[in-house]
Amino acid sequence: MQKWTEYHIDFLANDTQPQAEIPTWLTLSATAEVPKFHATLPQYHPTPLLNLHRLAADAKIAGLYVKNEAERLGLNAFKALGSSYAISKIICQHLGLDFSATKFTDFQSPALQDKIRSLVFATATDGNHGRGVAWTAAQLGCRAHIFMPAGTEAERVEAIRKFGATVTVTDGSYDETVALAHAEATAHGWTLVQDTAFPGYEEIPRLIIQGYATMAAEIADQMATARQLPTHIFLQAGVGSMAGGMLATLKQYFPSAQFIIIEPQNVACCMLATAMQNDSAAIEGVQQTIMAGLNCGTPCPLIMPLLHRHADFFAACPDFVAAHGMRLAAKPPTGDAAHISGESGAVGLGLAALLISGRLPQTRRRMGIDDNSVLLTLNTEGAMAESVWRQIVLHNALPLPE
Ligand SMILES: Cc1ncc(COP(=O)(O)O)c(C=O)c1O
Repeated sequence: MQKWTEYHIDFLANDTQPQAEIPTWLTLSATAEVPKFHATLPQYHPTPLLNLHRLAADAKIAGLYVKNEAERLGLNAFKALGSSYAISKIICQHLGLDFSATKFTDFQSPALQDKIRSLVFATATDGNHGRGVAWTAAQLGCRAHIFMPAGTEAERVEAIRKFGATVTVTDGSYDETVALAHAEATAHGWTLVQDTAFPGYEEIPRLIIQGYATMAAEIADQMATARQLPTHIFLQAGVGSMAGGMLATLKQYFPSAQFIIIEPQNVACCMLATAMQNDSAAIEGVQQTIMAGLNCGTPCPLIMPLLHRHADFFAACPDFVAAHGMRLAAKPPTGDAAHISGESGAVGLGLAALLISGRLPQTRRRMGIDDNSVLLTLNTEGAMAESVWRQIVLHNALPLPE
């Protein structure tokens, strides 16, 4: 493991050789049913893969792409892919239905509604996952209880309440809120639909992580249409479930790509700490970063071993990297598609742009980014708190340092 800091960003090169196979539950055959299931959602369409060709050409690289999850299911983030798949699987198990023969709309039929209406789903969330759970529950006529950490912006709470869910803002950190949601669900007999695992609770997070496979399948199709192969894939991590699930599936489509795992610096760099210690490390207390979706102190134990073995680099980024990505998304060079990107969504583009702008020469060299490179980033959310987006994009809050 080699660690260095350049332009205020901490990097770690993971030189442990990937000894392990991709876990069987994340192979392309194990996840083949996921995109088929999502295609049965009435709101489903593949999200766009934006080709920022002008930015790439200006930087003299072969390509720069952004998978725009802000357009996912009308929900402004990728997260409902996980919750809709997991909840549908749970209901099929509960009712003894054949999942492969069930469409999402079947759950809305009067016959099934009588059987599922009394189900209650609970989760802890920084925003997007809870929104996915609340949305799925609302589609199915079920109730949802959503727990959010201290300091959650009112706009994020409202975005969940509007789906009829009961929202409780706790006075603890994200990790404390996960523990509270678990305790409340156990006490009331609700089903906890949590996107991170803990001892004795792995089956549902596994389903949620598998649910993200639809993004990877769409990217594989879209890159094939673009006739390019990504050489560097940037994945942002909170608990790491999304990054791990995407790394596992994308690596099967693009075996020679390098994977860069990104998280907020200091306040929540549990991946970097864990990779350094080769063990599970938690960062305690209420943490502060504008990247609310990535503000998690404890990595998902189900996925961390995979990230540890297969990620090529870890990057712990200050908030200005995300702010840079948000501004670039909103105001790209003429000819490239503008898009709205939120704090946690934009950090991949922010880092990729810094790498190709010449501000990170040492890191660029170490990552082997050259004129043949094709960079792929994920805009995992649009603007979740519009006031914050305006401050950053329109009023240049958190500018790049000298
Ligand atoms: C917008 C956004 N991006 C990325 C992530 C990271 O996902 P994970 O917590 O699975 O690492 C989240 C998590 O909530 C998120 O909301």
